[in-house]
Amino acid sequence: MQICVVGTGYVGLVTGTCLAEIGHHVVGVDDDRRKIDTLKAGGIPIYEPGLDELVARNRQEGRLAFTAELKEGIEAATVVFICVGTPPLEDGDADLSAVEKVARRIGELSSSYKLVVEKSTVPVHTGMWIEKTLMVYGHREQIEFDVASNPEFLREGTAVSDFLHPDRIVVGVEHPRAERLLLELYEPIVNRTFTCPVHTNCRDAGPVPFLVTDIRSAELIKHASNSFLATKISFINSVADLCELVGADVELVAAGMGLDRRIGRAFLNAGLGFGGFCFPKDLQAFVKIAEKCGHDFRLLREVDRINQARIRQMIRKLRDQLWILKDKVIGVWGLSFKPDTDDVRYSPAIALIKQLLTEGAVVRAYDPKAMEKAREALPSLVCCQNPYEVASGADALVVATEWREFESLDLMQVKGMMQRPLILDGRNLFDREKMRSMGFEYLGVGR
Ligand code: UDX
Repeated sequence: MQICVVGTGYVGLVTGTCLAEIGHHVVGVDDDRRKIDTLKAGGIPIYEPGLDELVARNRQEGRLAFTAELKEGIEAATVVFICVGTPPLEDGDADLSAVEKVARRIGELSSSYKLVVEKSTVPVHTGMWIEKTLMVYGHREQIEFDVASNPEFLREGTAVSDFLHPDRIVVGVEHPRAERLLLELYEPIVNRTFTCPVHTNCRDAGPVPFLVTDIRSAELIKHASNSFLATKISFINSVADLCELVGADVELVAAGMGLDRRIGRAFLNAGLGFGGFCFPKDLQAFVKIAEKCGHDFRLLREVDRINQARIRQMIRKLRDQLWILKDKVIGVWGLSFKPDTDDVRYSPAIALIKQLLTEGAVVRAYDPKAMEKAREALPSLVCCQNPYEVASGADALVVATEWREFESLDLMQVKGMMQRPLILDGRNLFDREKMRSMGFEYLGVGR
């Protein structure tokens, strides 16, 4: 099918490239010419494992192209995905101005039928507004539009495989024509008939569940799913605080809970809390939407409050160990909001470092991928070339992001470089007994 994807960020670029990979013809559009120029020059504006090869191959095979001109992008397309950013406003509401602008331009520029699909994370009722916008600015008497919601469930660091092997595909439609088109579009993924570029044995699983709902329900599924996952994390972080008070081990509690299939072990890792450009803003947007619709989602406000408190807890632990933070040298391993990404947006590591710098501490940090982006966010940060440099002269070392490469370090060498062998493991990456037997003063979370 002929597809247009508007927005070449984390969602748009992965969506467009994977749709090309399964056999469609895709044109990616972005009004940020720098991004389009980077893509046309074979570069990738984001770090996502495996994406660069996929983009290169699909461009070479003529199924994927990029342009800054929306008119050119939608001309031949039957389905147009809106994947533009919906960043948070001051009051926590989602900024939908980019969505509105694209919907308006699609209306003005379309000269044939289009199925307009909202894939960006948007508040409930956005589909209705897109429909109204297409009515007002489109030439309704000559051409028809349909609108659908198709929320994305992509995690950074695994977005390509999340797209090609989703737990489910959710489409919210109001017209059978829209449902038919989306079924045709996703058929290779539902029946796993495409040649997978990521795994070898993925055919043996059954068909991917393809859930068809109305637009509002589909819009709510995304916010509700993310908010529930965030709730699991804040729940286990609260249990971790209790474990510290009673001398229990939250890792063992999470293991015991997770063996109940109804609970599941995933997203029960206690630590510095959740960051990233999804959970924090989706949670606040969901609370805001609920409030505007007349529901006070108190539970989620508490989930957010618990998460905000994680950084204060870590500062308190550092103060308990170091007494005065001013002029202390504190090393930080990890800057991205989670491993396998270079994204530092809403990263707990960045929030922690900001607080430490405010207290007058000297912070040395290293991250395998996120140094560049962290430098932009924290100009006064001492950036090290490797984890060992971070430990040099440090009075304490904080593990803020659980990158696998930290597990294979020579910890005795690390210990020898530190002013004091004090490790605060913000992600329970290390084994407590092993660290203590090596002579570290080791503090985990909830242990
Ligand atoms: C999330 C959702 O998982 C995904 O489905 C949605 O489409 C986008 O938002 P993402 O934000 O990329 O994906 O990362 P995720 O792996 O969900 O982690 C989010 C944050 O939660 C990270 O900061 C991570 O460190 C933290 N986290 C995750 C925990 O603190 N504990 C856990 O057990 C799991």
